[in-house]
Amino acid sequence: MTTDEQRQELLDLRYGKGNGPDKILWNEQIEGLLRHRSVRAYLPDPLPEGAVETLVAAAQSASTSSNLHQWSVVAVSDPELKARIAETTRMHSIGMGNPYINEAPVFLLWIADLSRSHAITTEAGGRAEVLEHLDAFLTSSLDAALAAQNAAVAAESLGLGTVYIGASRNRAEELAELIDLPPFSFVAFGLVVGRPDPERPTLVRPRPSQDMVLHHDRYGTGAWKSAAEVYETVFQQWREDSGMREKTWKDAVAFSSGDVAVMDGRENLRATVQERGFELR
Ligand SMILES: Cc1cc2nc3c(=O)[nH]c(=O)nc-3n(C[C@H](O)[C@H](O)[C@H](O)COP(=O)(O)O)c2cc1C
Repeated sequence: MTTDEQRQELLDLRYGKGNGPDKILWNEQIEGLLRHRSVRAYLPDPLPEGAVETLVAAAQSASTSSNLHQWSVVAVSDPELKARIAETTRMHSIGMGNPYINEAPVFLLWIADLSRSHAITTEAGGRAEVLEHLDAFLTSSLDAALAAQNAAVAAESLGLGTVYIGASRNRAEELAELIDLPPFSFVAFGLVVGRPDPERPTLVRPRPSQDMVLHHDRYGTGAWKSAAEVYETVFQQWREDSGMREKTWKDAVAFSSGDVAVMDGRENLRATVQERGFELR
């Protein structure tokens, strides 16, 4: 049983003291969601037997657009293949890789997958015109994301840790070849899964107050600015507590949204997905 004090502590960690909403409807599931943190330090232990199947059952329980199931997941556990895949996620712009892909026992690759819909439609004599549109790219990518998030929540509920890897799109074509992906599919992102190393614990990363993201009835342009001011203080404290050098949140946003060099290859994604069969019309 979680006490009121412990629940308040969860809110304080999530938003910084005093910045969270006043009223939260608590239950165990909400507590679990508020405890989320990405884990980047793992023990080499294998996952418990049945863990991958459990995560996929959770993933398949997510809503899926029109019940089409336009996603797949490849669970990579072969250390040598995992190392080759990890290499494709290297971020040359900041001189870093994602070493936790190698540390953890399993790397789940979430695939936006139109290949089955394409086969079924063309075998039935259709042209699969719908799949040529940008919306099909988005539908399959959304399906993959919703499935993966259910898996991530399930993993955390079992005491496992996860971290998403968008850098799996850095060399998307090479990655597709490494795992024999068929046409009409691409890896949207990866998810590392493993047992968190208790010797290298991770702090909850605080979020901006809800004024940043929540609007009522109509979008309040510019309403985020005061929330961003408050968030800088909370963000600095979290960076200090995590042993990171000083950097403002706004600087981090501007860095990530500015020079194309930070994309580390993802600027070529349109060409890759088009070559793989997504026309993006
Ligand atoms: C789609 C997506 C892609 C991500 N890609 C990476 C990545 O390539 N490497 C990494 O270390 N973290 C990655 N992350 C993790 C985010 O950095 C992390 O979720 C964010 O900083 C908030 O921290 P938290 O998850 O601990 O709350 C990704 C997260 C998402 C949702």
